[in-house]
Amino acid sequence: MPSTTSLHPDCERLLVSEDEIRATVDRLARAIEDTYPDPDRRLVLVVILKGSMPFAADLMRQIRRPLELEFMKVSSYGAGTKSSGEIKVSLDLSRDDLDDIDLLVVEDIIDSGYTLSRLSQLLRHRNAHSVRTCTLLDKPARREVDFTPDFCGLCIPDEFVVGYGLDYNEQYRNLPYIGILAPRIYTN
Ligand code: IMP
Ligand code: MG
Repeated sequence: MPSTTSLHPDCERLLVSEDEIRATVDRLARAIEDTYPDPDRRLVLVVILKGSMPFAADLMRQIRRPLELEFMKVSSYGAGTKSSGEIKVSLDLSRDDLDDIDLLVVEDIIDSGYTLSRLSQLLRHRNAHSVRTCTLLDKPARREVDFTPDFCGLCIPDEFVVGYGLDYNEQYRNLPYIGILAPRIYTN
């Protein structure tokens, strides 16, 4: 974090700086380019709202090949910090002609694994040419279902993090870095 950006007072400490985020996004973009080498195959990034928005916006601009964008809104969380185990799709893909398409689901973070495992299952049933997943962050210690993303930016410890799209009760999404939220904010 450059000295001009100060850590939000509700954050206990900085976990991923703006520079580290940039380097991670760049590395993921290169891996994605290597996995989809044919520019004539249609690649669609499926951005999971709302948390993945800043990540997807940065990632897509680092991928040097044609791609298209779609959005889905999926939630497994209420207002707290624990997964409910079920997912609810409140915004779906705006197309169903998926036969020729490589879908790449872009997610901010994997925690229990329910969201991405259920969502990839659902998309696989729609007969896309391929379905892969890319997450910026992964908390492997919290996994409740067996799920491994195809592309993973950084594995992080079992802490509740905010910033760069990630929220707590819809707050902190606009922080340009990722910080560990002070437990006093969600425990009382
Ligand atoms: P999963 O279904 O348990 O893997 O949950 C994934 C979703 O939980 C993510 O898309 C986030 O919206 C949310 N989530 C999990 N951990 C965190 C966190 O540390 N901060 C903010 N949101 C989180
Ligand atoms: Mg999310």
